[in-house]
Amino acid sequence: MTYPSFVVGIAGGTGAGKTTVSRLITENVSDSVTRIPLDNYYRDLSHLDLAEREQVNYDHPEAFEWDLLREHLETLLSGGSVEMPQYDFEIHNRKAEAITVEPTDVIVVEGILALYDEAINDMLDLRLYVETDADVRILRRIERDVVQRGRDLEGVIDQYLSTVKPMHEQFIEPTKKHADLIIPEGANRMAINLLEEKLQNEVHGEGGRAWEREDFEREIGDRT
Ligand code: C5P
Repeated sequence: MTYPSFVVGIAGGTGAGKTTVSRLITENVSDSVTRIPLDNYYRDLSHLDLAEREQVNYDHPEAFEWDLLREHLETLLSGGSVEMPQYDFEIHNRKAEAITVEPTDVIVVEGILALYDEAINDMLDLRLYVETDADVRILRRIERDVVQRGRDLEGVIDQYLSTVKPMHEQFIEPTKKHADLIIPEGANRMAINLLEEKLQNEVHGEGGRAWEREDFEREIGDRT
């Protein structure tokens, strides 16, 4: 028996508005929502020094620890909890401490390559791709990286031209074909309302996740 989570994947280029979409479609749905930022699954690079870590291509699929993400999703979907790593953009590495994540009604996997891995795609109930023009995305990225991630403008521009843009074209954009829905311009109000309604229905509607979860808990309780 599997835990009745509804799993949503939200992909899209850097600065597309994935986090905003994730927040808006889930904030009124249930307390039982887990957000899994793909960033938390960047490989542990503790064996490199900071200067080396600064040179890594963080937009290539190889930068992520897919096995760990697959394993964590499988565990959550079978009712277990996981220790999710946390990421620190300033040091380009995982933080020392992880956080415990319990299974919830809704799980949102969000990140540039959220629709890249076949096994993960198979675990997603709804696949979204947020599509926003590249000029808007780079402007947001500059603002965010300089203000929140302690980067300098020249570095952000170099990184954008050398890795972010080519990887977007080679790996991220093509995952659009795996999407069930493409959301234009990020927080598109109509798309948000429809998706919110869909999630409400999945969680609270007749035969929805909340009911299935009670069955799950009863069955597990009977076995223990
Ligand atoms: O939030 P967003 O989807 O933009 O996060 C992904 C981006 O974070 C990637 O485009 C990658 O270039 C960037 N990144 C970075 N430095 C790291 C890890 C990721 O600039 N250490």
